[in-house]
Amino acid sequence: MLRATGLTRRYGGVTALSEVDIVLAPGEVHAVVGENGAGKSTLVKILSGVLRPDVGSLSLGDSPVAFSSARDAVGRGVALVAQELAVFPDLTVLENLFLLNRRRLASRAAPVLAELGLDVPLDARAGSLTLADQQLLEIGRALLRDPAVLILDEPTSALPAEAVTRLMGVLRRLVARGVAVLYVSHFLEEVLRIASRITVLRDGHVVLDGVEKESVDLHGVVAAMLGDRALAPVASRTSPPRPRPPAIVVEEPAFAVAEGEIVGLAGLQGAGHLEVLAALSGRPPGHGRVHIGGRPAPRSVRAAVRAGIAFVPSDRKRYGLMLDQPVWRNTSAATWLGAGRGGWWLRREAHRAAARRHIERLRIRGGPDDLVATLSGGNQQKVVFAKWLEANPLLLVLDDPTRGVDVGARAEMHAVIAELAAAGKPVVLASTDLAELCELCDRVLVFQRGRVVARLTRSELSERALSVAMNAGWGGGGGGCGGGGGGPLPAGGRGGAQEVKARI
Ligand SMILES: Nc1ncnc2c1ncn2[C@@H]1O[C@H](COP(=O)(O)OP(=O)(O)OP(=O)(O)O)[C@@H](O)[C@H]1O
Ligand SMILES: [Mg+2]
Repeated sequence: MLRATGLTRRYGGVTALSEVDIVLAPGEVHAVVGENGAGKSTLVKILSGVLRPDVGSLSLGDSPVAFSSARDAVGRGVALVAQELAVFPDLTVLENLFLLNRRRLASRAAPVLAELGLDVPLDARAGSLTLADQQLLEIGRALLRDPAVLILDEPTSALPAEAVTRLMGVLRRLVARGVAVLYVSHFLEEVLRIASRITVLRDGHVVLDGVEKESVDLHGVVAAMLGDRALAPVASRTSPPRPRPPAIVVEEPAFAVAEGEIVGLAGLQGAGHLEVLAALSGRPPGHGRVHIGGRPAPRSVRAAVRAGIAFVPSDRKRYGLMLDQPVWRNTSAATWLGAGRGGWWLRREAHRAAARRHIERLRIRGGPDDLVATLSGGNQQKVVFAKWLEANPLLLVLDDPTRGVDVGARAEMHAVIAELAAAGKPVVLASTDLAELCELCDRVLVFQRGRVVARLTRSELSERALSVAMNAGWGGGGGGCGGGGGGPLPAGGRGGAQEVKARI
């Protein structure tokens, strides 16, 4: 059993965590939820030896413990799967798995990876894996340490539905063996399915204290999270767009996106839809494979930016942000990169004012002058998005744009995307969150093996129809977006009949 008492942690003037108690008991999944910046990652970093608290103490079993490092915590049976991926891109899969103890046998790796459904060669370079596979690799690494306490900080934010289901199975087996699990997620349905206890953090304070799952429901948890703040209304796109000439024609695979249209690209992992997205935004491995309006798509990220193509990635650290720069430099980055205008620094105050507007609208917890590295994961994702709002792009290419973003900001981001489309911007969107595709898209193209196998119109769109099309390769039927209706919560989900999720 891992117990924390009175944990307080400050960063400069910000109190990230305030007098937090929590108990992780063997054989239980304890979920910790809260808005972006509520202090979840700070808490799990303290519990796993990455950070030390300013005040407060830990005990493991019956004795007090003070971890000197993450490695020390692992040695005592406490393993963390961190929110920000920490795979070593230049090492192989196997080297990543046995970083801490290379003497262990490689043969141990295969069954663990198989259980997680990670089907990659052990000698593949980790950096060549997809974000989802890197996330599974990290989970595998933690599992191979045979932890007594396993802490997962948003392990599913980049995972497709099948991988989530498999991970749930793995966690159930671990818990049955007496492992204590701490689970942080913005997918509330996921949390309610797997957890036996729930703690809610708000502004660094515990507002719901390890209550049994049976004693709360989704609305109760969200109410605790938000306090007296209201949830933005769900963006809804009810009116189908009038026929308009195509703004973008992709020739292989053939599809077009009209001005003001939001087209979704969906598929299982490896289906080829993400390559199209990569191609549109000048990234490997797709670049050069598609044509836009008869001309080859940009061959570099820089060329894409100059062409007015906004790309909001799920892998924000790689493609989206300058972590060591303040928020305002990041939110203005695409304006000067894209337009090639000199003298942007003269307009510093204007940029800072713009940053402040985005901070307010997207509920970014932080100020214009804060370094992006000091923001929580979800708040960093909002900064990537804000950067493109500022740039006034010609085309938006979005890949899991709300990854790790809480329910309030997600609704706000959806409203902004709908507004941009209403102003005539074409939008191409891929998402592991099928509810997001349902809420936003006018049409969704479903991919298999590099080909479009189904085209679902707005009236045909539902999470179930998408899931069927992605798995079986055919579409149609079952109208209307899954979830969403009635309640104040945006539905979330990644397909599969029992896979409906809501974010918090
Ligand atoms: N290194 C740091 N320097 C300064 N402030 C920090 C640092 N790390 C976190 N913070 C601040 O502490 C607060 C809590 O951050 P934390 O990462 O714990 O949030 P979170 O609940 O995990 O959010 P998310 O859902 O976005 O991951 C935030 O306001 C954040 O800006
Ligand atoms: Mg976090």
